[in-house]
Amino acid sequence: MTDYLIAPSILSADFARLGEEVDAVLAAGADVVHFDVMDNHYVPNLTIGPMVCKALRDYGVTAPIDVHLMVSPVDALITQFADAGASYITFHPDASTHVDRSLSAIRAAGCKAGLVLNPHVSPECLKYVMDKVDMVLLMSVNPGFGGQKFIPSTLEKCAEVRRLIDESGYDIRLEIDGGVTADNIADIARAGADMFVAGSAIFNKPDYAQAIAAMRAQLAS
Ligand code: DX5
Ligand code: ZN
Repeated sequence: MTDYLIAPSILSADFARLGEEVDAVLAAGADVVHFDVMDNHYVPNLTIGPMVCKALRDYGVTAPIDVHLMVSPVDALITQFADAGASYITFHPDASTHVDRSLSAIRAAGCKAGLVLNPHVSPECLKYVMDKVDMVLLMSVNPGFGGQKFIPSTLEKCAEVRRLIDESGYDIRLEIDGGVTADNIADIARAGADMFVAGSAIFNKPDYAQAIAAMRAQLAS
């Protein structure tokens, strides 16, 4: 049976109470904390950096932190996030001049490395770096904001990337980010994803445990 991971995106959390929000969502059954970093350059929004990641570790968060870098360039932030306690660090290939080098730098810093593909980006760019990625993250919205609608063509791409991963024989997570809800999570899993980011579908609900349980029930169906 697939080991599905649910990764709430703290982009939709109440930032004034971030530590409590992360505790609450983990107590509600989340597996991973998805940490969205935006620089107002690669995407038209500005969020949080390594200091906030470190603050969560200092606060006592022990769950994996999945740092999604929507920044350009990426390299200078890799060691900063590794030092701040990141578990996964993912970036967009068009945000690094030397993708192979950036992936290697993430692993050398002791983190799991991932590439993020925007909705229009072909999986072709994965071909020669399959041995250097621990995760592929498919964007199912255009990055920059929470609460957007899932782009349906992601399902076809997800199935394609699942085939590439299986053929490669490497142990690589396939994560989906954007517009994931209890209504579409089963279709996304059927297309081959095993890790699901959900921001608004969890943090905008009054009961986080109920929201996560509804997703898990769909994954079990
Ligand atoms: C968007 C971010 C997402 C976002 C997802 O650029 O990468 O992680 O927070 O939010 P929802 O689940 O609301 O689409
Ligand atoms: Zn994200």
